[in-house]
Amino acid sequence: MATATTVQKVPGLVSPQAGTREEALALIFAPTKRGDGFRHGALGAPGYGKTYHVRQVIAAALERDVVDLVLSHDVKYRQAEFEGIELTHVGAAADPAQLELRRHLVYRGDVRADVVCEAEDVALAGKKIAQGSEIRVLLNIGELDDCLTEGGRGWRAPTVQWFSSKGRALGACLLWTTQQPKRSPDEIFDQSTTLALFHHEERSANYLSNTLLLDEDMVRTLPQLAIGEFVLKVPAREWNRKVYRF
Ligand SMILES: Nc1ncnc2c1ncn2[C@@H]1O[C@H](COP(=O)(O)OP(=O)(O)OP(=O)(O)O)[C@@H](O)[C@H]1O
Ligand SMILES: [Mg+2]
Repeated sequence: MATATTVQKVPGLVSPQAGTREEALALIFAPTKRGDGFRHGALGAPGYGKTYHVRQVIAAALERDVVDLVLSHDVKYRQAEFEGIELTHVGAAADPAQLELRRHLVYRGDVRADVVCEAEDVALAGKKIAQGSEIRVLLNIGELDDCLTEGGRGWRAPTVQWFSSKGRALGACLLWTTQQPKRSPDEIFDQSTTLALFHHEERSANYLSNTLLLDEDMVRTLPQLAIGEFVLKVPAREWNRKVYRF
């Protein structure tokens, strides 16, 4: 619980208070307390800290034993965005000794060798592990856009949808990010157990406001958020008026 000493005003913002990292992680991981998987999305304009945030969530999930294994789809840049055992595709075997130490497989594809690694392939590998064992798998989708059809409203990766809608019963968890909420299927918002909302331009904030029925003050806060700052939307809960930064 926030105490008078931990609650501080965020400079430049009128009403929200600074929340702690611990509070944010407790909300994000809350479903795992009852044995469910968590589904967490990070949304915001380019360069405002979504990937940085996801890295922190993954590190905390592994450290705290909230999940057993992380599978990341990380094909955006020449350099991996996530730290783990880098593999080109799901058929490539990880060294068991390394796996014991790291518990994070980062699937990268290989442009030089024409090896394509689709998000669907990674999700399918994760689903098989979740269904065939007691391992709690966290699927981390670098860009949700890679899983969607051209218009963004349909799924090109049905197994990522499975992680969003059904995987939780097997303790399977999902992390996803997008720069463009408008191009994301509404169901992923509804099925996510928490959403980290980073800086949004006004128009995008208004779109989210209509889709997610956000608190008006939250909508006004989104365009004011600095790099790394986010608010948490928990479905069916009122906004706690906190701004977080990892
Ligand atoms: N909390 C933070 N503390 C310090 N630096 C941060 C923080 N959040 C983000 N940054 C820095 O801001 C830059 C952009 O962050 P990041 O790559 O996570 O943005 P992004 O939202 O994922 O962008 P894109 O939409 O282009 O993928 C990076 O250099 C990152 O290190
Ligand atoms: Mg990013």
